[in-house]
Amino acid sequence: MQNKLKLITILGCILGFACFMGLSYGGAADGYLGSIHTNKNIRCADCHGAAAPVKGDTVENEVCSKCHGTYEKLAAKSMNPKIPNRNPHQSHLGEIDCVVCHMAHKPSEAYCNGCHAKFDMKIPGH
Ligand code: HEC
Ligand code: HEC
Ligand code: HEC
Ligand code: HEC
Repeated sequence: MQNKLKLITILGCILGFACFMGLSYGGAADGYLGSIHTNKNIRCADCHGAAAPVKGDTVENEVCSKCHGTYEKLAAKSMNPKIPNRNPHQSHLGEIDCVVCHMAHKPSEAYCNGCHAKFDMKIPGH
């Protein structure tokens, strides 16, 4: 009996923690990229490889590319024929980390704009 209670308490804590993490990092209303994904039923673990990611965690390019394709494919999609060299996915920066621009739980930022103020590049997930 005692053990059963203990088990229930432990399970409750784990579930409670998972809910808390879900609300802090996948809140449907925050509009960041993580929520855009969780709203499409993509779980924390699909990006993080773990159901309960911890502070300092990030996501490698290969994980994003499993669903979105490589830089080459992304560049073809985001190419603007009027300004073909202003491509967020193909530039003199090379194949940098996706998370330089695509944050998941805070505003994303088109890194190019930091140096090229006149580019006016938009990015999903503000
Ligand atoms: C689209 C992929 C994606 C999904 C889905 C996702 N994350 Fe993340 N997460 C990231 C990326 C990228 C980072 C690193 C950049 C950042 O902090 O925004 C990160 C960072 C984190 C961190 C570390 C934050 C810090 O400040 O050190 C935690 C904790 C985290 N995520 C929890 C979660 C939880 C909980 C869920 C599910 C509700 C979730 N993530 C869903 C991509 C994702
Ligand atoms: C398990 C598959 C999966 C993984 C892993 C994943 N995504 Fe996504 N991503 C999706 C789906 C599904 C959508 C929604 C597509 C839609 O609405 O058309 C999406 C949408 C997006 C969008 C567009 C949002 C918009 O509003 O147009 C961006 C940008 C994006 N993902 C970047 C990333 C990045 C960066 C990573 C890695 C940190 C990542 N994704 C990881 C499946 C994934
Ligand atoms: C230098 C900044 C930057 C980097 C690095 C970057 N992106 Fe993007 N990404 C953008 C911008 C800006 C947009 C919006 C422009 C557009 O949709 O054409 C975008 C749009 C997207 C979209 C949604 C629109 C589409 O074309 O399908 C996806 C998915 C995406 N990025 C995935 C990735 C992945 C995966 C990586 C890493 C392999 C990555 N991005 C690296 C800036 C970046
Ligand atoms: C750390 C600063 C920095 C970042 C970030 C940066 N650039 Fe550049 N870029 C430069 C410098 C410096 C030059 C060479 C001087 C010039 O022409 O402005 C340049 C030149 C260019 C040129 C040729 C000149 C022009 O204005 O047409 C293009 C195109 C370009 N960058 C695109 C990009 C794209 C796309 C991104 C994001 C994926 C980016 N840059 C990110 C600093 C940067």
